Amino acid sequence: MSENLHVLVVHGPNLNLLGQREPEVYGTTTLAEIDADLAERAASEDCVLESFQSNHEGEIIDRIQGAIGQTDGILINPGGLTHSSVALRDALAAAGLPVVEVHLSNVFAREPFRHHSYVSGIALGVISGLGAKGYVMGLSALLEHLRS
Ligand code: DQA
Repeated sequence: MSENLHVLVVHGPNLNLLGQREPEVYGTTTLAEIDADLAERAASEDCVLESFQSNHEGEIIDRIQGAIGQTDGILINPGGLTHSSVALRDALAAAGLPVVEVHLSNVFAREPFRHHSYVSGIALGVISGLGAKGYVMGLSALLEHLRS
């Protein structure tokens, strides 16, 4: 691995619809705009960033497994898999990399089934409810952790 930090950004199911999906909950920023903001911040921090979105749990797990030995940390919004997927948590734990979990909405202010996350217990930290800005904050926190 080069001396630049490598970060994998994972966007889970339905996040490809950002901008048009329930804008009153998730805002109007598109996934492409979020990725562009992340890429800009990554470039200014000499970080190599790769963004990946899938609506398929197995594809996400395959991508996380592929990050082992290739990536220094993972920034993830698991979408609905947050609340349902033991397999996603196991993949992140197996990767053994620092993970920052991001949610656009404040999941704790929403339906009770969104209050539990399978990912949070193995995450470095969680950002929830700060909208699209939360991703750049999460990336900064992850890079700071990796450099410390
Ligand atoms: C979400 C919150 C989840 O509960 C939901 O299933 C999503 C998006 C968020 O970013 O606020 O798909 O992760």
